[in-house]
Amino acid sequence: MTGRLSTKIAVITGAARGIGRATALRFAEEGADVALLDIACDIPGVPYAGAKATQLDNVRDEVEALGRKCMALVADITCTDQINEAISKVISEWGRIDILVCAAGIDSWGKAWELSDEQWQTMIDVNLTGVWKTARAASPAMIKQQSGAIVFIGSVLSHRANKEFAHYTAAKHGVLGVMRAFALELAPYGIRANSVDPTVVHTDMVMNQAYLDRLGGHNGTTLEEARAYYLKWNTLPIPWAEPVDVANAALFLASEEARAITGVALPVDLGALLK
Ligand SMILES: NC(=O)c1ccc[n+]([C@@H]2O[C@H](COP(=O)([O-])OP(=O)(O)OC[C@H]3O[C@@H](n4cnc5c(N)ncnc54)[C@H](O)[C@@H]3O)[C@@H](O)[C@H]2O)c1
Repeated sequence: MTGRLSTKIAVITGAARGIGRATALRFAEEGADVALLDIACDIPGVPYAGAKATQLDNVRDEVEALGRKCMALVADITCTDQINEAISKVISEWGRIDILVCAAGIDSWGKAWELSDEQWQTMIDVNLTGVWKTARAASPAMIKQQSGAIVFIGSVLSHRANKEFAHYTAAKHGVLGVMRAFALELAPYGIRANSVDPTVVHTDMVMNQAYLDRLGGHNGTTLEEARAYYLKWNTLPIPWAEPVDVANAALFLASEEARAITGVALPVDLGALLK
């Protein structure tokens, strides 16, 4: 098999759908065997439907149809035992982990002074602590191998604020810090860590009706109304990125083409951060 990730073993969290799914498929196209990890259920306090176990299975089928090995693991990244167990399973079955992509995440919203304790805590638990726990779990194997690449999926909100997302913004700024810390501490072992920081991406996280209604300020807000809003948010005349745009950036950072790059945050932001 030839490909930019030929013979590599990749673990991708949040892989049942959206950016994680697109990354799994893109990596498989480039020759990687892929372990998919996802909680695959609704999450209390998250105002849109969670991924389904069948979606996770479907992604496994899609990866296998590309001729690559695949395992689908149901695990909650906020639970130390579950994430450690999932990572151990990959190592015991496939022997190593070359690439980790931390794409699992959630969204919710509310004014900074009106967020509930539960909203705040769940956000920090998943989007920050869970991300750190995932990288923590995979690091020892990479250290042993003296090689590896970690790609964190941050956000433009790793770099700037947006109204009604104080908890998400805090978590994503935290991911930027976590990425830099892992890059610094793992570099002596030949391991790189970087992040891909997207603007709005066409996934269930931001294309669900509850999110659109928040954006438009009324029930039944349409995709067309959202399009107009996002065209103002971005600089390029494109309303949103597609999951594969983020996957392609993750692919580059995970591949040997980026062997000289670590500690870097790569916006896939349609120029949003220029504003
Ligand atoms: N969609 C966007 O506009 C956008 C923009 C910037 C950054 N991001 C980030 O990209 C990443 C992927 O988001 P997406 O847009 O693909 O959303 P998505 O909701 O389509 O996918 C997220 C996946 O993460 C999984 N997940 C959630 N909590 C989990 C947990 N505790 N343990 C394991 N898996 C869990 C979900 O089940 C889901 O399959 C997230 O980190 C998100 O913050 C998304």
